[in-house]
Amino acid sequence: MRLLVTGREGQVATALKEKGAARGVSVTTLGRPDLDLSGPREAIVEAVLKAADGASAIVSAAAYTAVDRAESEPELARAVNAQGAGALAEAARRLAIPILHLSTDYVYDGSKAGPWMEEDATGPLGVYGRSKLEGEAVIRASGARHVILRTAWVYSPFGQNFVKTMLRLGAERDKLSVVDDQRGSPTSALDIADAVLAIAERLDGGADDASLHGTFHLAGSGETSWAGFARAIFEGAGRRGLTVPEVAPIPTSAYPTPAERPKNSVLSTDRLHARYGLRLPDWRTSLETVLDRLIEGPGPKTDTDTQTEPASRNEGRTTP
Ligand SMILES: NC(=O)c1ccc[n+]([C@@H]2O[C@H](COP(=O)([O-])OP(=O)(O)OC[C@H]3O[C@@H](n4cnc5c(N)ncnc54)[C@H](OP(=O)(O)O)[C@@H]3O)[C@@H](O)[C@H]2O)c1
Repeated sequence: MRLLVTGREGQVATALKEKGAARGVSVTTLGRPDLDLSGPREAIVEAVLKAADGASAIVSAAAYTAVDRAESEPELARAVNAQGAGALAEAARRLAIPILHLSTDYVYDGSKAGPWMEEDATGPLGVYGRSKLEGEAVIRASGARHVILRTAWVYSPFGQNFVKTMLRLGAERDKLSVVDDQRGSPTSALDIADAVLAIAERLDGGADDASLHGTFHLAGSGETSWAGFARAIFEGAGRRGLTVPEVAPIPTSAYPTPAERPKNSVLSTDRLHARYGLRLPDWRTSLETVLDRLIEGPGPKTDTDTQTEPASRNEGRTTP
């Protein structure tokens, strides 16, 4: 099986390269400059058709993911996450292959008390969530066979994410204030990659009935707050010999950001389990795997491209 994955260095794209190689699946990544999702529709379609080379599915893992910056760049966010996604779906339709598209928990407004179900009303609070929701709608309307996977709180050994931010800040400070009144399910990109590969294999294997298409939640099992996530990261880091800071829980109101985030982002993954038999591991288990890879010896391994404002780039958040 061969997959064409958008995004080259993104967390999910990188995890797919790694997991695909381990599974004997050929993964071709397509990213800038060969594919610019903010560019003209026909150029996107052409780039995908050119790179497809017998792919069984397109995995749409590239996105404009800078949640806060999107508030001041709404046109770019919409171009990439809505129009770009639509162009990918058009390419999938022309190639007669399914598109597996990553979406987000930020399509919900966070007001529900329990876990969100796929059929619950959406109500994004910011530009990013609105652009992703529009992308979903464009894909549904495209005529392409599609699997939309709403995931949440993504972290991994790659790119920029909350775990890497915590390890970096934890090495610099004695105390970190972290938001404690937003809840969600941390999700390892490595687990997302395993699930995406299993879904693609199932579709490729001819098991292509309508119940396998549509919208699904794909998130780690269990839930926590950002502060709870931070505490778990530092407990793991402490066990691996790092000196760790104290985590001070704070309310969202104490850490205003350009984009409002949902208070409750917890996603029910029962539909994915019922239709595909897939359930991601408990987030604490997957965190251990990622910490093992990020922490080696006396200090955290850090990428040279670690930036000073990681929380603005991804969906995670802490205090600066
Ligand atoms: N990260 C999260 O916490 C989270 C939560 C929920 C849902 N999601 C969704 O999950 C998916 C994967 O997220 P991720 O964490 O892997 O994202 P990521 O690490 O931020 O990577 C995003 C990728 O998209 C690419 N990209 C951005 N703009 C582009 C453009 N105009 N043309 C082509 N490529 C472009 C980036 O390329 P460059 O390397 O060139 O910048 C990068 O490779 C996304 O759909 C995201 O919306 C993420």
